[in-house]
Amino acid sequence: MEKLHINLDEKSYDIFIEKGIFEEVGKYISKVYKKKKIVVVTDTNVDRLYGDKLLRNLQNSGYTAVKVVFNAGEENKNFDILTEVYEKIIDSGIKRGDLLIAFGGGVVGDLAGFAASTIYRGIDFIQIPTTLLAQVDSSVGGKVAVDTTRGKNLVGSFYQPKVVIIDPEFLKTLDKREVRSGMAEVIKYGVIYDIEFFDYLLGKEDLKGFMADIKKIIKKCCEIKAKIVEKDELDIGIRMILNFGHTLGHAIEKYYNYTKYTHGEAISIGMYEITRLGEKLGITKAGESDKIKQILKKYNLPIEDEVKLEDLIEIMKTDKKNISGILNFIFLSEIGKVEIKKVTEEEIANKLLK
Ligand SMILES: NC(=O)c1ccc[n+]([C@@H]2O[C@H](COP(=O)([O-])OP(=O)(O)OC[C@H]3O[C@@H](n4cnc5c(N)ncnc54)[C@H](O)[C@@H]3O)[C@@H](O)[C@H]2O)c1
Repeated sequence: MEKLHINLDEKSYDIFIEKGIFEEVGKYISKVYKKKKIVVVTDTNVDRLYGDKLLRNLQNSGYTAVKVVFNAGEENKNFDILTEVYEKIIDSGIKRGDLLIAFGGGVVGDLAGFAASTIYRGIDFIQIPTTLLAQVDSSVGGKVAVDTTRGKNLVGSFYQPKVVIIDPEFLKTLDKREVRSGMAEVIKYGVIYDIEFFDYLLGKEDLKGFMADIKKIIKKCCEIKAKIVEKDELDIGIRMILNFGHTLGHAIEKYYNYTKYTHGEAISIGMYEITRLGEKLGITKAGESDKIKQILKKYNLPIEDEVKLEDLIEIMKTDKKNISGILNFIFLSEIGKVEIKKVTEEEIANKLLK
């Protein structure tokens, strides 16, 4: 059993990582929740595979649990679905003081977490992430949100879970493409924070070798994320480095209306392109983009797309992190080290487009 603690004063919580932990999930919930009623929010795919099992596991531990299920997919992380989720939670008799479980990938974690943060002005929630991306990234750190027609994650809050329970066994049923998508975020941790971890990932033979060490890898990623979030919960300083590759990546996702690439694939292109740009501008040590290309290709992630930078920049102007025409770009200095640079729209047009 791997246990991490994320220290955020009264909002502190534990992260448990173990193969098969799902079977005894009630034991870990009882450490943070003493009442009986639970609402499980999940999507159709996760429900089909694991929904009834979770309800059974909860019932066996003495809980009364109900399920609220919405259609899988990023296109459903929106206000219409959120409203339906609120109404189903209310109709199921869940009250203030009861518990919500966000059970699924990042879409479920973000939407259900936002529902928890707002329904009845906030009820406690826990995360049981079932995708690689959610296990190494989105379930930790308390960012919850929904998309609007104007862009991704534009409405949300910071709302920490009471515990995160991670069972790597869930990844056995995950589509290979989704595993690779999560890999992009795993690689990101090495690139921005830990050259040894980067080299270790680069040294793995293939995805099979990677999966053999999955518990250790998830722990490493959660450790890095926890350290960063502890220093800057509200994303006004160092936490921004977690957005490495994301400003471009989000723009690529939006350009294709979230249809061409998964989140991780778009981030993969974003990481490579921002590194190339950094080299061009003399911010990034020469040759680093080749190393990034090598590792991304090793895990079959895309690195380039034909979309024009001009088109992406138009989209970035509406990025929620664009404050008065200034965007924080995360540039790589060298593998393991990044710097946050404020770039004005003018500089983007004059320097980045040249
Ligand atoms: N809050 C944060 O800090 C944060 C960080 C990174 C990403 N995100 C968000 O996360 C979302 C992407 O998350 P994701 O990649 O997990 O996507 P996702 O939640 O859409 O899951 C991908 C697909 O896998 C299915 N699935 C989930 N678990 C499964 C399993 N064990 N077996 C089989 N299928 C399974 C889902 O139903 C879905 O079809 C985006 O909305 C992104 O904005 C949030």
